[in-house]
Amino acid sequence: MEGTVEDRLENSPQHALEKLSFDSFFQGETRTFYAPQSFCSRTAFFMHHFRYTGNDLHCESVNLAEVARLYGTPTYVYSAATMTDNYTRLAKSLSGLDLQICYAMKANSALAILRHFANLGAAFDLVSGGELRRVLAAGANVKRSVFAGVGKTSEEIELALQNGIFAFHVESEPEMARINHVAGRLGVKAPIAIRINPDVDAHTHAKITTGKSDNKFGIPLKVAGAAYEAAAKYPNLRIKGVQMHIGSQLTDIAPFVEAVKKVTPFVAELKAKHGIDYFSIGGGIGIIYRDALASGSAEWWDAQPAGQRPLTPEAYGAALVPLLQPLGLKILLEPGRFLVGNAGVLLSRVEFVKRGSAKNFVIIDAAMNDLVRPAMYDAFHEIVPLHRDTSRPAMVADIVGPVCESGDCFAKERSLQQVGEGEYVALLSAGAYGYTMASRYNTRGMAAEVLVKGSAFELVHERESFETMIAGERVPAFLK
Ligand code: LLP
Repeated sequence: MEGTVEDRLENSPQHALEKLSFDSFFQGETRTFYAPQSFCSRTAFFMHHFRYTGNDLHCESVNLAEVARLYGTPTYVYSAATMTDNYTRLAKSLSGLDLQICYAMKANSALAILRHFANLGAAFDLVSGGELRRVLAAGANVKRSVFAGVGKTSEEIELALQNGIFAFHVESEPEMARINHVAGRLGVKAPIAIRINPDVDAHTHAKITTGKSDNKFGIPLKVAGAAYEAAAKYPNLRIKGVQMHIGSQLTDIAPFVEAVKKVTPFVAELKAKHGIDYFSIGGGIGIIYRDALASGSAEWWDAQPAGQRPLTPEAYGAALVPLLQPLGLKILLEPGRFLVGNAGVLLSRVEFVKRGSAKNFVIIDAAMNDLVRPAMYDAFHEIVPLHRDTSRPAMVADIVGPVCESGDCFAKERSLQQVGEGEYVALLSAGAYGYTMASRYNTRGMAAEVLVKGSAFELVHERESFETMIAGERVPAFLK
């Protein structure tokens, strides 16, 4: 057959697609590709690139056990093709808008990943001077990126202005005054947008809801007009847009629609009064945690009962584009989790299987310091063996880490294939808020990170050594 996989798909009759694509995959041809529009309107073809080939879990064409043996564990592994697919799919779902995707890099700020998204044309939603410097270190620029967060320091504001930030997302009046002051000192006008708090319940975990009036984010809609009037009086500010973000891990379209509907009349008013250029609707699109592995295939999505199908970018676009298009503004999106969440796994090794009278424990070498989401948000992460053996019986166990806290538990009473000491498991959907929220608790160094692309893989962040961990520490002279 002639041409690239993409050409073949574009030119194939729809009935031949499924076979062609699966054949391509199992021949190890894991380039990023899409089925034509008619097929995509159902779902994209592969939602992620983690699956068993034979009995071994692969990321794209790479056997994950090989990565674990080569680089040790715990190790995060990311799929470049999955990130590309997620990005392209989201952008495509919002076609018709003048769109600027600002990847919320707090989800995963590995330099390699930033570079990958920059290559795809993404800008960034950043929240600190450190994140800004990461973008620069990745060889990208911040000229189309936005700076969010409730506590920006003068130094951070200065750094952002010097590097030509697209806009500051302002969360309070004192912050406005500070940005104005720093801009004045540098002799520039600072581009700003005010974050509106639409007071919409995102129906997500309390710790990741941000759009309710009782949390610290943004300015309530009813006083936002006055905040813009105040901003207009500052000589060194330029009003450029308006922003909102209602929460994270939303798997239902309703809160997004409610928030957009609630805020658009005000946005139109701002356009007329202050000539704003853009409206950022934030991030928040959720991903699949419970059936993480199965959700890699279109069949899983098709099997979900109508009305209960988790949010897809296509549904997001279909609901929001008609509401946003009439504004005639640039629309910014700040997706984090959606772009990287299902593109990463955390590899870990079984240290011990402890059989108790009441309970079994599988003790693995990853811990809450590597992936804090289960301990912090009671988050569910699917855990699967790297080598599948269907002849083994299942066992029910708590899957825990070695940290000295009972909260260091990844899964309670989880059923999984019997595993033994030295075998590997993967914690799925760990690409977002995994490594970036990790710590060194119990003096455990930061995990390694590996990026896969097709059959290639590379260590993109080495495991932290003990020496690096204590490099900045001193015992003071008065104790010697
Ligand atoms: N924009 C703003 C202003 C945000 O505060 C956030 C996330 C995002 C965009 C990206 O949201 P996403 O598309 O990733 O949902 N650590 C928590 C999630 C915290 C989200 C904080 N803000 C977790 O692991 O679930």
